[in-house]
Amino acid sequence: MAKKRIGILISGRGSNMTALIQAAREDRLGGEVALVLSDKAEAPGLAKARELGVEARAMTPRRWRTKLDGDDAREYAAALEAAGVELVCLAGFMRVVKAPLLEAFPERILNIHPSLLPAFPGLDVQRRALEYGARYSGCTVHFVDASLDGGPIIAQRVVEVRDDDDADSLSARILEQEHRLYPKAVALVLSGRYRLEGRRVIRL
Ligand code: GRF
Repeated sequence: MAKKRIGILISGRGSNMTALIQAAREDRLGGEVALVLSDKAEAPGLAKARELGVEARAMTPRRWRTKLDGDDAREYAAALEAAGVELVCLAGFMRVVKAPLLEAFPERILNIHPSLLPAFPGLDVQRRALEYGARYSGCTVHFVDASLDGGPIIAQRVVEVRDDDDADSLSARILEQEHRLYPKAVALVLSGRYRLEGRRVIRL
């Protein structure tokens, strides 16, 4: 059976992207990474993807800085479809994905976020968790819908906050867990061994 093809959208260093590409190579995903797209030409992740033998290109949207919609979103959808992509993984993609990309991949776009959602959606998350005084944080992989970091949760991992943590040390420990969690969540979705009941992702 042909491997399912995955597209990854990035804006920066691409460490989660790298974790997904490595997991695919080690046959832990049940799919292969076919294409990496970045909204920023200078994203270091682009070179990293190419080093790992994955086609990667920058597609700089013309409109907005924080969302991907209209013709920009249509171009992303067309590039992903042309590459035969069935599942899209956002990995540090710093734009909110809107129509028509969202509609082109219904329940087929995932995101990873460095908090235990629904706590701390948005940006600057680890600093906000620390300032709030949260004792536990972590990471979440979820389906992407029209809301900000608000789609159904696929998987989470907990990271304990230490008294001597700053945003960097907490981010680093969360990131380690992200690299473990994202491949597992992608493998689950590609395997199809779950069903959605409302917001709940029930494993089969
Ligand atoms: C990660 O913390 C991810 O959860 C968030 O953005 C960061 C991206 O890091 N959405 P990287 O580019 O994968 O290294």
